[in-house]
Amino acid sequence: MPARNISIPNQPSNVTNQTITSVSREHRKFRPSAEFQRQANLGSYAAYKRLYAESVNTPNKFWGRQAKELLTWQKPFKKVLDWKLPHAKWFLGGQLNVAANCLDRHLGTARENKAAIIFEGEPGDVRTITYKQLHREVCQFANALTALGLAKGDRAAIYLPMVPEAAVAMLACARLGVIHTVIFGGFSSEAIKDRVNDCQAKLVITADGGWRRGKIIDLKTNVDRALAGTPTVEHVVVLKRTGQPVAFSEGRDRWWHDLVAGVSAEHKAKGHDSEHPLFILYTSGSTGKPKGVLHTSAGYLLGTTITTKYVFDLKETDIYFCTADIGWITGHSYVVYGPLANGATVLMYEGAPNHPEPDRFWDIIDRHGVTIFYTAPTAIRAFMRWGDDYVKKHSLKSLRLLGSVGEPINPEAWMWYHTLIGKKRCPIVDTWWQTETGAIMVTPLPGVTATTPGSCTLPFFGVVPKILDEQGKEVPRGGGGKLFLKNPWPSMLRTLWGDDERYKKQYWSELPGYYFAGDGARFDEDGYLWVVGRIDDVLNVSGHRIGTAEVESALVSHPSVAEAAVVGRPDELKGQALVVFVTLKNGFAASPQHKEELRAHVAKEIGSLARPDDVRFAAALPKTRSGKIMRRILKEIAAGGTVKGDTTTLEDFNVVAALQSQEE
Ligand code: PRX
Repeated sequence: MPARNISIPNQPSNVTNQTITSVSREHRKFRPSAEFQRQANLGSYAAYKRLYAESVNTPNKFWGRQAKELLTWQKPFKKVLDWKLPHAKWFLGGQLNVAANCLDRHLGTARENKAAIIFEGEPGDVRTITYKQLHREVCQFANALTALGLAKGDRAAIYLPMVPEAAVAMLACARLGVIHTVIFGGFSSEAIKDRVNDCQAKLVITADGGWRRGKIIDLKTNVDRALAGTPTVEHVVVLKRTGQPVAFSEGRDRWWHDLVAGVSAEHKAKGHDSEHPLFILYTSGSTGKPKGVLHTSAGYLLGTTITTKYVFDLKETDIYFCTADIGWITGHSYVVYGPLANGATVLMYEGAPNHPEPDRFWDIIDRHGVTIFYTAPTAIRAFMRWGDDYVKKHSLKSLRLLGSVGEPINPEAWMWYHTLIGKKRCPIVDTWWQTETGAIMVTPLPGVTATTPGSCTLPFFGVVPKILDEQGKEVPRGGGGKLFLKNPWPSMLRTLWGDDERYKKQYWSELPGYYFAGDGARFDEDGYLWVVGRIDDVLNVSGHRIGTAEVESALVSHPSVAEAAVVGRPDELKGQALVVFVTLKNGFAASPQHKEELRAHVAKEIGSLARPDDVRFAAALPKTRSGKIMRRILKEIAAGGTVKGDTTTLEDFNVVAALQSQEE
């Protein structure tokens, strides 16, 4: 292969200080239609530029105005920002109630009897809850929690399925100033115990069970096991969802329905300080125990409210469906707080996307008239794998906007999403952000930005992304490096719960004065941002540092490949040899010829530099429960060793066993 095939598109020849070699060649541009632009909340590039310039040049003025316009305050703030690196305090002196911003302020308006939540359970049960009804339920539950002895500043763990009561529990805590920590319903007893103990929760709110692929997940049993080692927990509130018998600990456990029976639905929301902690959300670190990311009240609410309004172009008539579980930050920010603060109608679905058939989401979209759909690339690749016929059975004509979050979306999946789901009519917002950032940071605005498949494009208001090399120098456009954020933003994490030293070290020590996102990225010639994956996953092949996402994207562009994961294996000659794990689409078979074809395909797409040394076919890839591929495990398998590290966040251990058993 001639050397020019491994050169970097768009890259000036004098780029020498880059940290990562970027190999993507995607140039296609998709502009918003005039029709979309006309109705958009922000409909011109000039308007975006003007607001963006204001947000970074005079951030206090910009955020002060937005906070007054978008939030309802019980006591006005005196100072917009107090920034003592790396600790930010926003909207000092102000008081508000997050739950009242999501509920009470819509009462007495046209939204009062509008659906706040349209819920569909996996078995097919549907419930519509208006803003007035949701307010009632939250007030009642808040009163019940108070009667149980919960008070402002206490911690409560929420371990529930994707049911409306999950939002009720979060909002009731927020209303009281009780700090919630939501634990994803797929986590084990061990994970519950660690999290409850780390934040010393007084209360656990759970259910008897939840539905997943036609089976019951035994939530209460998991809680009971965890609670053998959690001395701080005084009570467990149990929602009856699935109805199977569960053990009950007298005095400690209370049924949700008993607890609220006869309890008043009147509750006056008190104002809490802007910086009062709203929630802790645990996110796994690459090593060690999970990090308790702490978000506070006003700044977080402002970040989620303003991004929901502009990124999702939210209108009163929208029916908005975000497929994330409330156990993840996406569920917090874009199922509960952002949409409800905007008075949106949120569609909430309890179960699996392939139950009873792999067209459940498309069926939901058609039956409920969903207009905005927000999901993850891992889900999109699964849909592609299940086959187009499941999509084609449904019209999807109500959709007007699509979103993607959680990992880089490979252009192949982007195009499929655009064509099959969006019918080439819906803009796609590929939103880059993190648990730590609280809200969307880099994203297209649907009425403004010409999108390019695979790029999350331009910074949102107030966000200043920088690509820097090892010396902290800016990498010119086209070159890859580490992604940092300059300047604080309202929805940023404030610290890690109980471990401020780790907060400083993890996020603020890579380069003094900058927030280190932990991702590798580059700007292209247009200034669009491309995230190529976690820095820890960058491969070093013959002196070139290559992001896994780009090689994976090349593999997925082959018609037979459903999903791919690329890892490095130590190699004496090259530093690292490339080992790829591939799952094939239905109808394609694994064979030695096929391996060769895929190796040649990557060499053609990227250059011989990236030709995989080894291709392994797999029925499935090991993933976390939030859908991220666990490359650490694949690395161990590729190196021929056994899987030793922590596997508690793994969705299905059988996947690992199957991969290990097929080792040569
Ligand atoms: O690596 C980036 C990737 O997901 C990481 C954040 O993960 P988490 O805290 O679990 O939050 C996920 C939901 C916000 C990031 O550091 N990531 C997230 N969105 C994108 C992405 N990578 C590329 N493009 C995205 N749109």
